[in-house]
Amino acid sequence: VPLYLITPTYTRLTQKADLIRLSHTLMHIHNILWIVVEDRSSKSKLVTNLLDRSGIEHVHMNVETPKIFRLRPGDRKYMQHRGVEQRNLALDWIRMSYELSQGVVYFMDDDNTYDIELFHHIRKVNKVGIWPVGLSGGNDYEGPICENGKVTGWYTIWDTRRMFPIDMSGFAIHLQVLLDSPSVYWDRKSRVGNLESDLLISLGIERGDLEPIDDTCSQVLVWHTQTVKFEYLENRMERITIKNLEKYMDL
Ligand code: UGA
Ligand code: MN
Repeated sequence: VPLYLITPTYTRLTQKADLIRLSHTLMHIHNILWIVVEDRSSKSKLVTNLLDRSGIEHVHMNVETPKIFRLRPGDRKYMQHRGVEQRNLALDWIRMSYELSQGVVYFMDDDNTYDIELFHHIRKVNKVGIWPVGLSGGNDYEGPICENGKVTGWYTIWDTRRMFPIDMSGFAIHLQVLLDSPSVYWDRKSRVGNLESDLLISLGIERGDLEPIDDTCSQVLVWHTQTVKFEYLENRMERITIKNLEKYMDL
């Protein structure tokens, strides 16, 4: 079963370090297609080179987040969802690639930490696979509570009204589910922290559909790590052109 791994990514000082880490994880996984979508008006040399060098089968696209949705310097990042247009472009690509009929889709941030063991579990997903995410939701971890391979509750402290309190990296969706709901996309209008839950609701998923990757959901195989921002340098970079940043990142 092929895995379609979708990663939005954007130009910043820590991008190369994050993508090297992610690509070196994915280099261990067979039968994957890595769909990398840059949040830019054109493809960067950095990502092009990194993808080629990885030897991973990939699709490389770009779409720039519309200006009204872009975070401005000084904005707190929860003010806008990130990676929405990029993931939606990847969804379009997948849905248009009519020769695809089986496989599992997984949305991966470029800065998380993934245990290669996770991908064995993802490959077995029939509808929607679900598992806990370390360092997520302002807690040691966040995710489903499971008994006998069924979700019976949620371990979460953040906006506990969410129907599916789970981070982006805590679930994977069978391709067929996405093909069956061709008009469902990631929704910018979702409330803070509700992007994931809203997508699953739009796909008509119910708690009983969820497939925990093990009977007890007690194993953490992915962490919502976040690379420290180089705020001082990046604030200066606002005045420096993107060309200079690329020169720096080609080092
Ligand atoms: C959390 C989730 O882990 C994200 O998957 C979700 O998109 C986000 O919340 C949200 O609510 O929008 P967090 O770790 O705080 O995300 O976000 P980032 O890692 O900064 O961004 C998520 C993805 O979007 C990353 O792959 C990042 O490279 C990309 N991104 C970020 C862009 O494409 N453009 C940006 O301007 C910022
Ligand atoms: Mn992230």
